[in-house]
Amino acid sequence: MADPKPSAPLNGAYYGPPIPPYAIPRRRRHSCCGGLLSSLLKLIVTIVIVLGIAALVLWLIFRPNKIKVYVEDATLTQFNLTNSNNNMLLYNLSLNVSVRNPNKKIGIYYDYIESLAIYDDSRFGFQILPTFYQGHKNTTILSPVFASQNILLGDAPATYAREKTEGFYNIEVKFYMSVRLKAGIFKTHHIKPKFDCNVRLPAPSASSLKTTPFERVKCDVDY
Ligand SMILES: *[C@@H]1O[C@H](CO)[C@@H](O)[C@H](O)[C@H]1NC(C)=O
Ligand SMILES: *[C@@H]1O[C@H](CO)[C@@H](O)[C@H](O)[C@H]1NC(C)=O
Ligand SMILES: *[C@@H]1O[C@H](CO)[C@@H](O)[C@H](O)[C@H]1NC(C)=O
Ligand SMILES: *[C@@H]1O[C@H](CO)[C@@H](O)[C@H](O)[C@H]1NC(C)=O
Repeated sequence: MADPKPSAPLNGAYYGPPIPPYAIPRRRRHSCCGGLLSSLLKLIVTIVIVLGIAALVLWLIFRPNKIKVYVEDATLTQFNLTNSNNNMLLYNLSLNVSVRNPNKKIGIYYDYIESLAIYDDSRFGFQILPTFYQGHKNTTILSPVFASQNILLGDAPATYAREKTEGFYNIEVKFYMSVRLKAGIFKTHHIKPKFDCNVRLPAPSASSLKTTPFERVKCDVDY
């Protein structure tokens, strides 16, 4: 009724029939496109579900277990703070840190790995370690050595003064890395785990060196 002009030339004097010829094609066109859209949507949803199930199955088959990290041994031969010289710390810290890949079917590419030595939130040492590939059920020993001098910031000098009298220093060693997991022919994108180790070491002195055997320390592993 809204468009009597285009219907008038086709249907002459009739008032009733003009409406269906316009209404039906419109409705059919509408239902055709809606159908195409909904079947496309169904296809996409199906693909997403299938991919999700495939990922879940792969995950269950390969079951990635967390990397296990321990400080096996640590030696502090120098840790001298000179307050007269801007809180300059002279340090020599070396560690052996074992990194175990407990997975049966996953290999790990360590494409980048750096280690940091921190004393009471003040970072004093930094070292980039060699990259490596770690096979299934394999253990690798990382041996960072921090030996140089650096300024201690914030509360660290006060903590140093206190711990010096106690005879022990609490030092944090962190590892940041970029790794890829490999399972069969599949490789993941880069993921960035980090290891966090806290060691308590005797103040260096002629008598303390190697008199107290180091007890291995478990490190936190986060992804
Ligand atoms: C650091 O301190 C130790 C003892 O605490 C001492 O034997 C050593 O000579 C000092 N090193 C330096 C460079 O001052
Ligand atoms: C690390 O291990 C190597 C080989 O076993 C050993 O020679 C070295 O003294 C160790 N380092 C530390 C800091 O214990
Ligand atoms: C660990 O990896 C090294 C180097 O790839 C290899 O020589 C060694 O045999 C591996 N050990 C085990 C237990 O697979
Ligand atoms: C650090 O100590 C080790 C012994 O543990 C020694 O071989 C090395 O020369 C020292 N490095 C520095 C820079 O003092």
